[in-house]
Amino acid sequence: MNTPAKNDRAAWITGPSAKCSVPPKDRDRTWRIVLLGAPGVGKGTQADLLAERLGMCHLSTGDVFRAAASPCNRERTPAMVESLRYMREGRLVPDSTVWEVVRERAGCIHCPGGFLLDGFPRTLPQAHALEELMNSEGITLDGVLDFELPIPEIVARLSGRRVCEKCKAVFHVTQRPPRAQGICDQCGGKLVQREDDRPEAVKLRMEIYERDTAPLIEFYRGLGKLLSIPATGSADEVFARTLAALELAVTDGHLRDRFPHDAIVGLGIRRRQSDELL
Ligand code: AP5
Repeated sequence: MNTPAKNDRAAWITGPSAKCSVPPKDRDRTWRIVLLGAPGVGKGTQADLLAERLGMCHLSTGDVFRAAASPCNRERTPAMVESLRYMREGRLVPDSTVWEVVRERAGCIHCPGGFLLDGFPRTLPQAHALEELMNSEGITLDGVLDFELPIPEIVARLSGRRVCEKCKAVFHVTQRPPRAQGICDQCGGKLVQREDDRPEAVKLRMEIYERDTAPLIEFYRGLGKLLSIPATGSADEVFARTLAALELAVTDGHLRDRFPHDAIVGLGIRRRQSDELL
């Protein structure tokens, strides 16, 4: 129970001076992916599954801000403490603070294990800043996975979510219950409900998503990076669909222009608006 079972992400969660005690293993392929989708759609759940299967690090800006809540975090800055107020209310942390956090962790973008950015970028200015950073560092994104789900299903997912205080693993009271109630399967930590999963904060988060984050779908579609994945069904079903999308979309290290017709019909995944089923 004491040994972390997965990449511990210390350099991301705690700060740039921390050293990851479980660096990612060497893999045949290094994946660099952004996860998009409304709050509660299942990005963190898929990130954990993808990281375990494909070896990249799950880099969540929300996890960094939540880690700032811990008084023993040596690297918490006044800006990170301030960010907790925004989070609790369900509002977005200001772009300047988010960018400060990401820029000082730019080493993680270079990690040979690759990365899954979850919760960043979340506004167009953040997306432009990430593009500039990656262009200047000569790093290419493999793709942007956009998870799609109707709002009532998302609200049901959020109301039953429980998160490990220690390793941040995500569970659901009915859909993805832990083996022992209230205890994390991965590290034995205590499972808690997030403060921003209160109904009034959830409502605000959905409105902010529609206004500030949804425009990123068109932004990444325009760059030819978008892969749309239906997030209906169990977490394992969504995971299977996601792996299939990555496998189909990336050939010889490059994103294909569009999915083969069978993939769209069978899995509902899309690369472009014109891939939509009629
Ligand atoms: P963040 O931590 O990024 O949260 P979020 O984007 O709101 O997304 P969530 O973590 O709520 O949901 P998720 O999609 O990961 O779903 P999950 O897998 O947990 O950000 C929190 C806050 O930080 C923001 O509101 C903001 O204040 C601030 N912030 C962070 N980044 C920022 C940025 N870049 N700019 C500005 N502010 C920023 O799943 C949800 C539940 O559903 C779980 O219980 C899970 O077990 C269950 N579930 C998952 N998949 C399934 C399935 N297929 N079937 C049934 N249940 C499922």
